[in-house]
Amino acid sequence: MVPADAFGSLVAALGDIVGSANVITDAEARRGYEIDWTSRFHGSTPAVVRPSNVNEVAAIVVLCRRERVSIVPQGGNTGLVGGGVPLAGEVVVSLQRMSAIDPVDVAARQVTAQAGATLAAVRAAANAAGLTYPVDLGARDTATIGGNIATNAGGINLIRYGGTREQLVGIEAVLGNGEIVRRMSGLVKDNTGYHLPSLLCGSEGTLGIVTAARLRLTTRYDHRVTALLAFASVEAAVAGVAVLRTAIDTLEAAEIVLDAGVRLVCACFDLRPPFARPHPVYVLVEAADATDPTAEMSAAVASLEGLEDVAVADDDGRRAQLWRYREEHTLAIGTLGQPHKLDVTIPQHELATFMGEIPTRVSRYAPTASTWLFGHVGDGNIHVNVTGVEPDDDGIDEVVLGHVAEVGGSISAEHGIGTAKKRWLHLNRSRAEIDAMRAIKRALDPDGILNPNVLLP
Ligand code: FAD
Ligand code: MLT
Ligand code: ZN
Repeated sequence: MVPADAFGSLVAALGDIVGSANVITDAEARRGYEIDWTSRFHGSTPAVVRPSNVNEVAAIVVLCRRERVSIVPQGGNTGLVGGGVPLAGEVVVSLQRMSAIDPVDVAARQVTAQAGATLAAVRAAANAAGLTYPVDLGARDTATIGGNIATNAGGINLIRYGGTREQLVGIEAVLGNGEIVRRMSGLVKDNTGYHLPSLLCGSEGTLGIVTAARLRLTTRYDHRVTALLAFASVEAAVAGVAVLRTAIDTLEAAEIVLDAGVRLVCACFDLRPPFARPHPVYVLVEAADATDPTAEMSAAVASLEGLEDVAVADDDGRRAQLWRYREEHTLAIGTLGQPHKLDVTIPQHELATFMGEIPTRVSRYAPTASTWLFGHVGDGNIHVNVTGVEPDDDGIDEVVLGHVAEVGGSISAEHGIGTAKKRWLHLNRSRAEIDAMRAIKRALDPDGILNPNVLLP
């Protein structure tokens, strides 16, 4: 924390680096950078700095290190674990001005983008070149490539293409010691020592500030089919997804929602229910290929047990309608207050039991709480959202995350640890692993100025 009388000289020095117009100190203008997307986590900052290039980012880090001022890097501020907001008076370094995307390298099937480019902009650039950037998620219009890398974002297409780390060929970043590291040649075979892009990916802004990345692109498939499958039970839905994953090579999404969540979405957004009568569980599946995958999808779906109804979309308008039942969950749950968002992965053989058990455990701890379950069932990633509990009542997180660890799951599937889950890192990582993480942190950020309130307890 900087003493109040030192703010003035710090702000002036930051202004010398980025221009005073790019140092935001006005309280009203700072507010959006000081609170997270869920409103559960907030703090304050003396200044939001908006650099325009990597040298300015490096100069900011050197200055802050000299002045012993901590930094929180921020992209689109759509993170869901409170990792991107200043909790204890840190300076916010916003990457949003650094949003350039180079022309797509079609021969290499790669693109170079600055960290502040939005996911949607990178996907659009790839698309325009006849390719695709296969990571996709609901916050695509606001979330940035830098934020995606920092959180190793997963999203809806992971079952086919992997997450952000799998697409990362090269990175440019400023480490916590102020040094710039840059490896953007795009060589896909290059085993020359430690792979810094992989290390920085998922480091949640604790080791370096990502300023640009070289990203792998994949084939764009123009034939696509989407279906909403209504099941009698979670068990049938989970078993059905396993069948579809084996039967359909071109499956790129398998997303689960429950009746209560769909009703909430319909009420919030004035949507008609997907079927004439409600069903306990729904799975949204999507396949894409160079030729129409509808017949393959239909044959596989016809073999499923416990299936009660199906709605199929083969045009973009209808597809978007079906996706709304899934993607509007985050906003709809947010209308009920500040949720505890616990993003977990459960081993496939435990998944159905876990989804049945967790609402009971939550109710036992907090009888008035509501549990909302949805997510990326194809890879075992369930979003456990709990509403009706005070934002700072960590007991509910303990109940859910403790049970996740008991069944051999991950307490952080795709959102990261942030500040929300750092107390429970030990549930998934040994003392030796946490010591190794601390040693890496000390090596790359010797004074501990980068995102000091996230990840490591
Ligand atoms: P921010 O929120 O700004 O920051 C997130 C973290 O990254 C913070 O710790 C921050 O300090 C750090 N950071 C940001 N930029 C940099 C940088 N340039 N260098 C170093 N550190 C940096 N996530 C998924 O994985 N899958 C989903 O399906 C998904 N769906 C979502 C849907 C909605 C509606 C919303 C609101 C969020 C969703 N998220 C999802 C969460 C979120 O979008 C991702 O975590 C995303 O990667 C965050 O990007 P951002 O630019 O908003 O990062
Ligand atoms: C999603 O899959 O919709 C996201 O990860 C956001 C959320 O968990 O609410
Ligand atoms: Zn998700």
